[in-house]
Amino acid sequence: PTESPRVVIDLDLPGPTISRHIYGHFAEHLGRCIYGGFWVGEDSPIPNVGGIRSDVVEALRALQIPNLRWPGGCFADDYHWRDGIGPREERPRMVNSHWGDVVEDNSFGTHEFMALCELLGTDAYISGNVGSGSVQEMSEWIEYLTRADDSPMAVLRRQNGRDEPWKVPFFGIGNEAWGCGGSMRVEQFASLARQYSTYVRKHADNEVYRIAAGASDHDYNWTEVLMKSFDKLEAGDGPAGPFQGISLHYYTMTGSWGDKGDATTFTEDEWYIALARAAHMNELLTRHGQVMDRHDPGKRVGLVVDEWGTWWNAEPGTNPGFLYQQNTLRDALVASLHFDAFHRHADRVVMANIAQTVNVLQAMILTDPDSGALVLTPTYHVFAMNTPHHDARSLAAHVIAPEASRTVEGKDMSLLSASASTKGATAHVSLSNLDAAEARTVVLDLRGRDVTGFSAQVLTAAELNSHNTPEQPEAVAPRKLDGIRRHPRGLELDLPAHSYVTVALELG
Ligand code: AHR
Repeated sequence: PTESPRVVIDLDLPGPTISRHIYGHFAEHLGRCIYGGFWVGEDSPIPNVGGIRSDVVEALRALQIPNLRWPGGCFADDYHWRDGIGPREERPRMVNSHWGDVVEDNSFGTHEFMALCELLGTDAYISGNVGSGSVQEMSEWIEYLTRADDSPMAVLRRQNGRDEPWKVPFFGIGNEAWGCGGSMRVEQFASLARQYSTYVRKHADNEVYRIAAGASDHDYNWTEVLMKSFDKLEAGDGPAGPFQGISLHYYTMTGSWGDKGDATTFTEDEWYIALARAAHMNELLTRHGQVMDRHDPGKRVGLVVDEWGTWWNAEPGTNPGFLYQQNTLRDALVASLHFDAFHRHADRVVMANIAQTVNVLQAMILTDPDSGALVLTPTYHVFAMNTPHHDARSLAAHVIAPEASRTVEGKDMSLLSASASTKGATAHVSLSNLDAAEARTVVLDLRGRDVTGFSAQVLTAAELNSHNTPEQPEAVAPRKLDGIRRHPRGLELDLPAHSYVTVALELG
């Protein structure tokens, strides 16, 4: 008989730490992400704290979200932060040209965003404007945010009601500079990134990690040129300068940018295409990593995947510029595949941000524009099931499953994906059964330490396109997996078809 698929894990060989920051989020002034998603205003009948929706905050706190990127995206390179401070009724308006061509009234600005971060207990990742902003504007923003004394910007912040400086650990230098962020050549942007980063100063004890706008997809030349722009990386240790990280953006769709595929109406072939394209993240990280390794063998520069996730055609009947889409079990498995890739590349990937948190693209939360009802998506549950991996040491997980594979878009694709981590006397294993139709019994071949206890959770649903709605909020929700037992090699698990499973191990 054919042997069961096996996942071999050496529990006593921990690798690099999986930064909790790979579980980061992204909130852009786009569609109903900020307005209607996070922000309802102080006079809203929806319960809020200073205008920020309490139920959204509560749901995200449960995910222990480590950082939140704001205000864009493409919007960031149109945004002038001084328009978003001071009395709300006096704030200037602007056109949000990228997203629906709507008028933005700037009622959600710096103070509102930092209040949101405080409510969430999360780190701020501010995305600065290189495309249409000045060096001085960027320099003054970090001074406004983080300076304690009586400097001009600190005084202005106090006049606007905030005495204490905030902490801003992450600062983006532009966004998609090759496209909406200025249509630049990489050589031009590399010079600007050095220049702008220099003025994102460390005020008092605010350590700031500067992230230069990086490549899209397989644009390895963009990464190459940015890496070349560092001085003497090989010589030293500690964080690189003048910026410390470079970003990468990659979106999953089944079609092309013109017709990306639908969120809830798809064929079995499209199920596999989406998952194969999500798994492609692993190759992107390997190859961008190889470029970075050539210049930076000591891994002083971090790779920050600050936009990733599914991008489907907008839901029928919604504004196409608002990028509102449903979120199914397929999106959940796209997320689990990304996390497997990030875990495997924990030595280089220091941070990542799914696009986006509420009501936009692959969201955690959808809110109804009329009733205000809130729904947690299948992707939300994958984030929740992954919290034990935060800041744990990665463990290599070798998948031996020759029968569990399929050819998708001309390439071989494994139908079983796995990753693992360990922290103290525990370990956690993530397993994705990508097979649309077949359940699989999998052996966890656990070596190096005794397993004294175990339990597992599963996320699956009746249909490939099952999703949550206000009427059926738990169509896709995690539950206990009963099919788990001891095996001579470790444990044996029954993975349902199209499922994501996390296994918690207690170690002796
Ligand atoms: O996340 C939506 C958009 O996708 C962002 O604004 C932009 O950076 C990217 O093209």
